[in-house]
Amino acid sequence: MHRIAFLGPPGAGKGTQATVLAAELAIPHLSTGDLLRAEAAARTPLGLEADGYMRSGRLVPDAVVLRVLEERIGRPDARNGFLLDGFPRTVAQATTLESVAPLDRVVFFDLPRDVLVDRLSSRRVCPTCRTVYNLLSHPPRVAGRCDRDGAELVQRPDDRPEAIATRLAVYAETTAPIVDFYRARGRLRTIDATGTPDEVGRQVRAATR
Ligand code: AP5
Repeated sequence: MHRIAFLGPPGAGKGTQATVLAAELAIPHLSTGDLLRAEAAARTPLGLEADGYMRSGRLVPDAVVLRVLEERIGRPDARNGFLLDGFPRTVAQATTLESVAPLDRVVFFDLPRDVLVDRLSSRRVCPTCRTVYNLLSHPPRVAGRCDRDGAELVQRPDDRPEAIATRLAVYAETTAPIVDFYRARGRLRTIDATGTPDEVGRQVRAATR
């Protein structure tokens, strides 16, 4: 049983590493950002409520996120564990998770603000298959096109400068305190997330062993 969460600021590389580790451990990769974006794309009432918060870089209210997350971790494929990416993000979310499905390991991605801003502003995503690229560190083979399906790559609305600034401020104020929540419970492992994806991946594996 693995119940793991990746914690860290926007653009830290959580999603990039979660895709790899979840496949290696054969557990589902649960990104609350991806779940909320899927709800918004499907124009469900919940997705429409979340969309405005996400576009501007603010957190979606706890009650909405908890509804999405609890439904997802209740599915059969999460019975033997899961890898959370982007959850919890508030002390209230962390406290609720403790009573529903306590985590056994939390990996904190540590890196400086200037690296985050560079990674976020140069991220591009495929709107069809959701593959994540980076104009600097992981460009597509053909400029502007997805390697897998040829779709035209797009920039996430919250990767524009004003939303990036809001996300980093919200992170510092509301999410960073969770680091102490898990450190106090002896479950936190901190990694240096400034290296290449392979270097970071080695640290992630060591931290979740
Ligand atoms: P979410 O989708 O979770 O965004 P985030 O936490 O801001 O994280 P990102 O996806 O921006 O970054 P990442 O760390 O996954 O980095 P990535 O691997 O892509 O949340 C979006 C919004 O949804 C929130 O703002 C909020 O509104 C809402 N939301 C979600 N969860 C919520 C919750 N629990 N409560 C309330 N609201 C919630 O990497 C970034 C870039 O860098 C990529 O281009 C990648 O290719 C590149 N890269 C990755 N690793 C490296 C490396 N080692 N070296 C060089 N480049 C790298």
